[in-house]
Amino acid sequence: MKAEILITGATGTTSQYAIQHLLDKGVKVRAMVRTIDERSEALKARGVEVVQGDFLDVNALRTALDGIKRAYFLYPFKDHLPKAAAYFAKVAKEKGVEMVVEMSQMGANEDTPSPATQNHVIAEHIFEWANVGAVHIRPGLFAWNYLGFAAPTVADHQKFYYPDAEAKYTIVHPKDIGEVVAEILSDENKEKHIGKKYDISGDKIYSGLEVAKDISDLLHQEIEFVPVTVDQWIDAVKEHPTVNPFLAKHLKEFSSEVSDGRFNKTTDVVKKITGHEPRSFKAYIKEHKEVFETAIA
Ligand SMILES: NC(=O)c1ccc[n+]([C@@H]2O[C@H](COP(=O)([O-])OP(=O)(O)OC[C@H]3O[C@@H](n4cnc5c(N)ncnc54)[C@H](OP(=O)(O)O)[C@@H]3O)[C@@H](O)[C@H]2O)c1
Repeated sequence: MKAEILITGATGTTSQYAIQHLLDKGVKVRAMVRTIDERSEALKARGVEVVQGDFLDVNALRTALDGIKRAYFLYPFKDHLPKAAAYFAKVAKEKGVEMVVEMSQMGANEDTPSPATQNHVIAEHIFEWANVGAVHIRPGLFAWNYLGFAAPTVADHQKFYYPDAEAKYTIVHPKDIGEVVAEILSDENKEKHIGKKYDISGDKIYSGLEVAKDISDLLHQEIEFVPVTVDQWIDAVKEHPTVNPFLAKHLKEFSSEVSDGRFNKTTDVVKKITGHEPRSFKAYIKEHKEVFETAIA
């Protein structure tokens, strides 16, 4: 039997976890990758059907979505999200796709001042209008942000810099997001999910002090939280490889959304959909401990 589930952005963080969870459940997967390289070869080696395609190439989307019933639309933090969503929704409609799980963001509401987040609001509307069985997942802050935001300075001089000492936010382990996506895509009862907006949180609400404390506990070394100005923070993190140029351009709005409390929420989505409690930020740091301790010896 051919795969009837398509995972896009298949070399990306949340998609990798979604693919693994589907394979563990014995579900066949087709993966759309932007480039054929060692990462796509690794997917093939795990039994995944790989197609190459760009979100902005409508014919490539026709090939990727041919014969597909359900899909995960994972557009990166980059420009042109509404265009990609419109192409994807159009082709999904043509191909008779019954469910599209689309990556949005917690707090992506019409009043957001951030143009990047407005793109998520527009994409949510596009998938609703297209009537392709849209399910919107809206996670809080990804734990992997901290590989760029915290690890370099923690490893170098045991400090974590962030602009707002009062900001409160939830941090989500990307594996929980991937598992939620995989469980929705493989659920026989699609009606339970279609039209839903799922705010995905981590285990609790964090602040800069708590982030520093969790890292300190794991490294057995005092890590100091240092509040800085937004401009100082942007200067410090903008060159990191996990911070692409589009994100670097939007870091000011990103930090103001965090300060506004748009990520200050915990939910039972992970527990309800996967059956387990959300993983903690500490669990994520533990898996990537070497990145935080490289310079500590
Ligand atoms: N960071 C956060 O705290 C946060 C919170 C909530 C929501 N989000 C949302 O989450 C999304 C990012 O998720 P993620 O971190 O899992 O993504 P990611 O790891 O950055 O992966 C993005 C994937 O998209 C692929 N890709 C890039 N450009 C493409 C194109 N033109 N056509 C086809 N594929 C393309 C990439 O392939 P290559 O590797 O080959 O480029 C990669 O596989 C964004 O929409 C962001 O707004 C982020």
